[in-house]
Amino acid sequence: MKMKAGCNQLKPVLLLFIINLCFYASCESTELQVCKLCSGTVLNGTAVGQFCAVSAGRIDGRCCVTNDNTTDPERIIGLDLSNCSLTQVGDLHESSTAVMIDLSLNPLVNLSDTVFQGFTELNHMILPVDIDCPGGNMSWSKVEIKERNRLCDDQKNMCNRSGELSIDCPENSFCTPYGPGFFECSCADNYHGYKCLREGEFPALQVFGPLGASTVVLSILLWVTQRRKVKPL
Ligand SMILES: *[C@@H]1O[C@H](CO)[C@@H](O)[C@H](O)[C@H]1NC(C)=O
Ligand SMILES: *[C@@H]1O[C@H](CO)[C@@H](O)[C@H](O)[C@H]1NC(C)=O
Ligand SMILES: *[C@@H]1O[C@H](CO)[C@@H](O)[C@H](O)[C@H]1NC(C)=O
Ligand SMILES: *[C@@H]1O[C@H](CO)[C@@H](O)[C@H](O)[C@H]1NC(C)=O
Ligand SMILES: *[C@@H]1O[C@H](CO)[C@@H](O)[C@H](O)[C@H]1NC(C)=O
Ligand SMILES: *[C@@H]1O[C@H](CO)[C@@H](O)[C@H](O)[C@H]1NC(C)=O
Repeated sequence: MKMKAGCNQLKPVLLLFIINLCFYASCESTELQVCKLCSGTVLNGTAVGQFCAVSAGRIDGRCCVTNDNTTDPERIIGLDLSNCSLTQVGDLHESSTAVMIDLSLNPLVNLSDTVFQGFTELNHMILPVDIDCPGGNMSWSKVEIKERNRLCDDQKNMCNRSGELSIDCPENSFCTPYGPGFFECSCADNYHGYKCLREGEFPALQVFGPLGASTVVLSILLWVTQRRKVKPL
């Protein structure tokens, strides 16, 4: 009887341990899937390869990742999906920290602007010539055609435009760039809610804190386990 009770007490701990173990193990293996979207690695002679060498990055499949141990987890700074037979581009959010992305030599039909939403660091893109720069020409300081590629260089800050299309964030909020063609209005400190109209601390945050945290963990767990059943492209 006593032993059984002890066993029952142990179980949740063990289960939690196993879940954590699985969670971190799958986290590890699903990390940076975008780097394996197609075979091969970044080659030395390519634009991303050269950028990676200059930036003292490390090549991991089709990615260049930061090699410093100050950032955790590692950040993708370059993504080379050139010559990958891609007809469309899906989810690239893992590479949202990328400075350079090469999608050249792919039979792309179109490219959605939303793919690069949140890509605030992105400053160099190489695209097939018939694909427009994300966010349009006005989102980049320089757009040019070289050989069979379209080059989009130096992402413009959407919050810093004068004239026709000036950005108006609601009162008590400020504009922050959010990738080519996108911006975000963030509430100033102490304001929240729709159009940042309410002032003061958000009292529900503390109440829902633990619940929110476990929901996030559960969602990630579900996402990870469900995702493993899906065959990678
Ligand atoms: C690429 O460059 C690195 C470092 O300069 C070198 O170690 C590696 O052998 C090169 N790879 C190829 C395929 O040239
Ligand atoms: C982390 O970086 C510091 C200095 O940049 C270096 O001394 C240390 O050995 C590094 N640690 C690992 C595990 O790479
Ligand atoms: C593209 O890939 C094919 C096969 O993987 C290869 O034969 C070809 O040389 C590559 N083209 C370029 C420009 O790298
Ligand atoms: C790309 O083009 C296809 C076919 O014209 C269309 O069905 C699809 O919605 C387009 N995708 C985007 C992101 O515009
Ligand atoms: C964007 O710029 C390129 C290169 O200057 C030009 O060929 C293209 O027509 C422009 N696109 C639009 C929509 O203005
Ligand atoms: C706005 O753009 C101008 C010129 O492009 C630049 O000098 C200025 O620093 C920018 N301001 C901000 C807040 O980014």
